[in-house]
Amino acid sequence: MAGTKIYLSSPTMHGEEQEFIKEAFDTNWVAPLGPNVNAFEKELASFVGTAHASALSAGTAAIHLALRILGVGEGDRVFVPTLTFSATANPVVYEKAVPVFIDSEEDTWNMDPKALEQAFEKYPHPKAVIVVHLYGTAAKLDEIMEICKAHKVPLIEDAAESLGSTYKGKQTGTFGKIGIYSFNGNKIITTSGGGMLVSDEEEITRKATFLATQARDPARHYQHSQIGFNYRMSNITAGIGRGQLLHLEEHKALKKAIYEQYQRAFADIKEISLNPLNQNGDANCWLTTMLIDEASPVTPDRVMDALEAQNIESRPIWKPMHLQPVFAAYDFFTASGEEKKEEGKGSVSARIFDRGLCLPSDIKNTAQDMELIIRIVRKCFGR
Ligand SMILES: Cc1ncc(COP(=O)(O)O)c(C=O)c1O
Repeated sequence: MAGTKIYLSSPTMHGEEQEFIKEAFDTNWVAPLGPNVNAFEKELASFVGTAHASALSAGTAAIHLALRILGVGEGDRVFVPTLTFSATANPVVYEKAVPVFIDSEEDTWNMDPKALEQAFEKYPHPKAVIVVHLYGTAAKLDEIMEICKAHKVPLIEDAAESLGSTYKGKQTGTFGKIGIYSFNGNKIITTSGGGMLVSDEEEITRKATFLATQARDPARHYQHSQIGFNYRMSNITAGIGRGQLLHLEEHKALKKAIYEQYQRAFADIKEISLNPLNQNGDANCWLTTMLIDEASPVTPDRVMDALEAQNIESRPIWKPMHLQPVFAAYDFFTASGEEKKEEGKGSVSARIFDRGLCLPSDIKNTAQDMELIIRIVRKCFGR
């Protein structure tokens, strides 16, 4: 067993974070809200290029509020990519709405526009579409936005994993009516936990902030005309975010270098391909993942076991939502129409799950760490 653990993607702190926190302590802006929250919102909005932002306690909270703001309620359908983390789909169910799962395409692994069209054929009036930019790679936004526009359905961008990634020169998270980001512990920048909701419409972020602070009406006493939530980011957390944001571009460059190193290291192994990057974009390469050809006897489990034996963290690809017990009752659409839901090779997303794994993508990995990881993976393929 190797001495120190090699992580999949752990926080990388720099020092400025502590300065912002110290300032908060020195001025006793520990609570409630405070200048770091407002500044972090402004700085993040300016970085991604949206007019407005609302800092929240989590990316999941941001998705929940996005749905609330768009009026998603009981019985409404929301189209969601199947290949994602459950946090994309859970808030749909919080609102007693109905998720409809959409298969991936091969080029970016994200929501397949053809499968999305199939879902619209059967259900022409969903209340919203959520698109995810998996592992930092932009989805086929032009196609997806065109479909949403034709059907007059708002698009929510779950850019939890893709902060800093661009599509045709524009930041992911800024294409939809509402975008959301996550700053949880393993993301490209972290606040330990947190999220942001962004929009060009001030009314939307104003509403998000209002709902996130218990929906308190403007009155001296505590007056409420709507159900609210305790979803706001704290001033301490926002201080960490401000410090981290200064290093986002640097983190992105290091993540991309990791992807490129794996690409070179496995170039001679035919059975291995990495997660495809959208050619119309510039990905933040949050996690590098690999796919093992179906014809290969090597399984993702074998590679993960070999890494784990050396105290190296890797993990499976997100298990598609349509294969999750909790979402088993919901519809699932592939490019060729509705499909049976059993595990196996019936859909693009199931195959990616079946044959893929996430490689260690921690930007603090040393050259020796990377060499060790690469050596172990190559050995699994007899190299
Ligand atoms: C695609 C996706 N959506 C949503 C979330 C939820 O973000 P958070 O953990 O900040 O609630 C995450 C990460 O956890 C994610 O990867």
